[in-house]
Amino acid sequence: MAFDIDMIKGVYANMAKRVDEARNIVGKPLTLSEKILYSHLWDGTPSKAFTRGKDYVDFAPDRIACQDATAQMALLQFMQAGKPKVAVPTTVHCDHLIQAKSGATADLKSANTTSAEVFDFLESVSNKYGIGFWKPGAGIIHQVVLENYAFPGGMMIGTDSHTVNAGGLGMVAIGVGGADAVDVMAGMAWELKFPKLIGVKLTGTISGWTAPKDVILKVAEILTVKGGTGAIVEYFGSGAKSLSCTGKGTICNMGAEIGATTSTFGYDESMERYLRATDRADIADAANQVKEHLTADPEVYANPEQYFDEVIEINLSELTPLLNGPFTPDLSTKVGSDMTEKATSHEWPLAVEWGLIGSCTNSSYEDLSRASSIAQQAIDKGIKMKAELGINPGSEQVRYTAARDGILGIFEKLDAKIFTNACGPCIGQWARYSDPKNAPKNSIVHSFNRNFAKRADGNPNTHAFVASPEITAAIAISGRLDFNPMTDKLINEKGEEVMFDEPTGWELPPKGFEVEDAGYLAPDADGSGVSVKVATDSERLQLLEPFTPIKDESLTGAKLLIKAFGKCTTDHISMAGPWLRFRGHLDNISNNCLIGAVNAFGHKTNMVKNQLTGEFGGVPDTARAYKAAGVRSIVVGDHNYGEGSSREHAAMEPRHLGVAAVIVKSFARIHETNLKKQGMLGLTFANESDYDLIQEDDTFNFIDIAEFAPDKQLTVEVVHADGSKDVIKVNHTYNAAQIGWYREGSALNVIKRENAS
Ligand code: F3S
Repeated sequence: MAFDIDMIKGVYANMAKRVDEARNIVGKPLTLSEKILYSHLWDGTPSKAFTRGKDYVDFAPDRIACQDATAQMALLQFMQAGKPKVAVPTTVHCDHLIQAKSGATADLKSANTTSAEVFDFLESVSNKYGIGFWKPGAGIIHQVVLENYAFPGGMMIGTDSHTVNAGGLGMVAIGVGGADAVDVMAGMAWELKFPKLIGVKLTGTISGWTAPKDVILKVAEILTVKGGTGAIVEYFGSGAKSLSCTGKGTICNMGAEIGATTSTFGYDESMERYLRATDRADIADAANQVKEHLTADPEVYANPEQYFDEVIEINLSELTPLLNGPFTPDLSTKVGSDMTEKATSHEWPLAVEWGLIGSCTNSSYEDLSRASSIAQQAIDKGIKMKAELGINPGSEQVRYTAARDGILGIFEKLDAKIFTNACGPCIGQWARYSDPKNAPKNSIVHSFNRNFAKRADGNPNTHAFVASPEITAAIAISGRLDFNPMTDKLINEKGEEVMFDEPTGWELPPKGFEVEDAGYLAPDADGSGVSVKVATDSERLQLLEPFTPIKDESLTGAKLLIKAFGKCTTDHISMAGPWLRFRGHLDNISNNCLIGAVNAFGHKTNMVKNQLTGEFGGVPDTARAYKAAGVRSIVVGDHNYGEGSSREHAAMEPRHLGVAAVIVKSFARIHETNLKKQGMLGLTFANESDYDLIQEDDTFNFIDIAEFAPDKQLTVEVVHADGSKDVIKVNHTYNAAQIGWYREGSALNVIKRENAS
């Protein structure tokens, strides 16, 4: 599991030089975020000062992390690249595919049976290509990364939106789609729009019942779920230094909930303590040598308004515990009587049925120890537990250490369920109900990050509120959503009035971390002899075949598959939910292709005309019929087509089903890039109103596709059922290299050829 200290020392050696160069080019003092970004440029030395929120820049990340749900398609694609090993240190973490039901032992056993083929595939493919593999039960990706791989000043990408958690250890860590991760694994650059910068100045210190979680709950209240979009949030100030490293991780983790590209903190003593406690003293020593580069230049924090695009100030001494929710993480309410009022007026159930502590957001030793101090008081003061309690430790190292120190035993005395060190209830993997859709209205409180409807248990009537672990414990014990542990009394089993004292805990385990089997499997030094395990009859996994180039002649006589009406997000193109099961099987998951898109003709979903037969049917079936007949198909769409997630399935599925081109009014940029990477045409109407010309029985002839070139419009002849024609112009943003991807069938085909030559 070892991190590569030489690689990290190399990053620091470069940093010293590149930060100076960047400062000269930018012509002013630099924020920490800029130092990390400029020292990770793909081309090394910066060519110019990049414009925030505008310029697209190529970066060279230091690490990649993938979780089990997203790693499947990413690694199936990587196998296509023809590389013997990943170009950048990479790890795979099995944490999403484990259900929480009976408790860790039984649940892990069950997951190891039901998802055996997926885990076996991920283990074998990791072993073959030099990827570190964390077994089911080893922990949640972001906690494991923080404990083992994150380092101050580093840049990483991960195929999960909460990759941003590693900002707690001073990284710029960003969640990406699988296709982006594959590029970096294959040795290519990673492109990102140079982010805007939001500075959050923290003054004062947290104390009593207030926790780092309340900082991000407050930031979410201020910025809302969209306020961080396209920006890095950089925390600084004396208050920032007073927070523990894992507390900083919690704050950065939930930066995803405000839409931020990522969040980060400057290197400080809390990070040094955490590095030394997690057996990485050599990183702490190396970081100490370059301390000045691992935080902003002093002028920046002295006059933040001059250097950040937006500045927020929060006095931690005045911050009080918050409960955010339900159904959105930015709806803040102060713990206590404010909640009585709000819950009553909105008819949120005041009785709390469950408290859940853990997830990648709040599952550190400190989190568990502080929550357990409340649980211990309930035992000592004879307070009967009113709600049920569930705990998901973040990693086997945290679980083992917390068990050794009696922390888990305290929860167990309150009949808490200790679930697997995995995502569990945070991602709907909670077998709480047999029929969640018809389950009753109820409230739960958890220390996770997301609380959208159905997220935890599949019940649309579950009102989930987000709070710190200590507040979650207190509310679960009291059983009331509006319980204020700072002022309210509870009646104990003897009928006496009792109150909780303030929570206490340890930032780090006093006796140090310990673990017997962390759950890590190092890859073979030479994986060339390892065979990747995929059963030929598997319904969940399928080895990919390289996409064949779309021939110019096949673009004469192409048929309209669907003209999507209105919003068409990646969820409309490739739904999630039950389809998650097929994320590693392109042919099976293609049966959800565009089934959520509204057909402009008839305004129904998944109902389109097959022009070859005149019959109406589902989109995937119709696409398959065209493909079987050797006829290419075309998708037409409206504005911002493909917005939403960066999942590459939304491009791979139509490509697999024979779609040659997607012509829209405008694209969400990541989806447009994904189409290019899969060797398809992603085009926009030169005249948006030409969208209205497209009719249900249209045939498309790409008249000048043979002259496809950068900055040159293409001409498409649209032939209608009555034989009349419209000749329209379409725009594209392909550069020469991307046209090469199209001509060779996909970006991966190009990498493979280059690798072979
Ligand atoms: Fe897992 Fe939930 Fe985090 S799904 S990675 S614990 S956000």
